[in-house]
Amino acid sequence: MKKVILDLDTGIDDALALSYILGSPDAELIGITATYGNVVIEQGVTNNLNLLAMYHREDVPVYKGIAYPTGTTSFEPEWFVYHGKNGTGNISIPATATRTAEEKSAVDFIIDSVREYGNDLVVISTGSSTTIAAALEKAPEIIGKIHLVVMGGSLTQPGNCNPFQEANMGQDPIASNKMFATDADITMVGLDVTTQALMSRENTQALRDTGTTSGKFLADMTDYYIGVSENDEGAPQGVCNLHDPLAAAVALDPTLVKTFPINLKVETEGPSIGRTIGDPSRLLSPVKNTKVALEVDTKRFTERFMERLLSLVTS
Ligand code: BDR
Ligand code: CA
Repeated sequence: MKKVILDLDTGIDDALALSYILGSPDAELIGITATYGNVVIEQGVTNNLNLLAMYHREDVPVYKGIAYPTGTTSFEPEWFVYHGKNGTGNISIPATATRTAEEKSAVDFIIDSVREYGNDLVVISTGSSTTIAAALEKAPEIIGKIHLVVMGGSLTQPGNCNPFQEANMGQDPIASNKMFATDADITMVGLDVTTQALMSRENTQALRDTGTTSGKFLADMTDYYIGVSENDEGAPQGVCNLHDPLAAAVALDPTLVKTFPINLKVETEGPSIGRTIGDPSRLLSPVKNTKVALEVDTKRFTERFMERLLSLVTS
């Protein structure tokens, strides 16, 4: 049983990643840390609390992370069209939490949890890197103990914000670069593989057919995501990417992907700001701290994803 922290910018596929972890018998979700990205952080906190209420999992604490990119004092979600104004495709989460976020900061929660659980814990990042980088900076002794699985970046594919930049790495390139520059153990689940992990309208219909409130909510929310994804030039029809759920699945079962060891950096200025590329200063270093997922067993992943979501919404 793996202990899990989810660092989410909730977000449709973040909500699906949360659902995946809650439906996984081999995961114990010890907390959610909210970051900004698809939504402003307050909306992310609210979405996490309400999703947990919907699943009757108000035992899982929610912590608020850092609200803005490094060096700034505000944040406006640029790509909200993909996730709707409320982060869940303009579909209301059918439950309202009766609690608020914890007093402790997300940064301190991550630090304390890594200190306490070490190898038994995996931290899954599916939004901006700001909070994670701040935790590594505040308590450098956790760098050798933390296991991070990061949805973000791309080594072999164009970005999804522009040809260079993937959304999560582009939110705060300075923080993302700091994260990769540490010797922390990082598995990068980027567009190289997440663009192959798809959810179809048949899959959403299967969730709706359960007749449960949460099944219908997930189906309606994801149909919105499929609808907007279809509008992208050259996009496959009737499907959306399962970016964040794939990172969650890999965190529990690394055999779903084949990885390539490399030391990465993130460009922090210039026309390709936000791009994940090999760090030339560490290319020949015998120690490679990042494993980039380059191949995925999509059939095994999609089957497991649907099995776990169906079991969650019918439990
Ligand atoms: C990432 O960006 C966000 O919009 C998604 O939730 C995912 O984490 C994909 O680039
Ligand atoms: Ca996300």
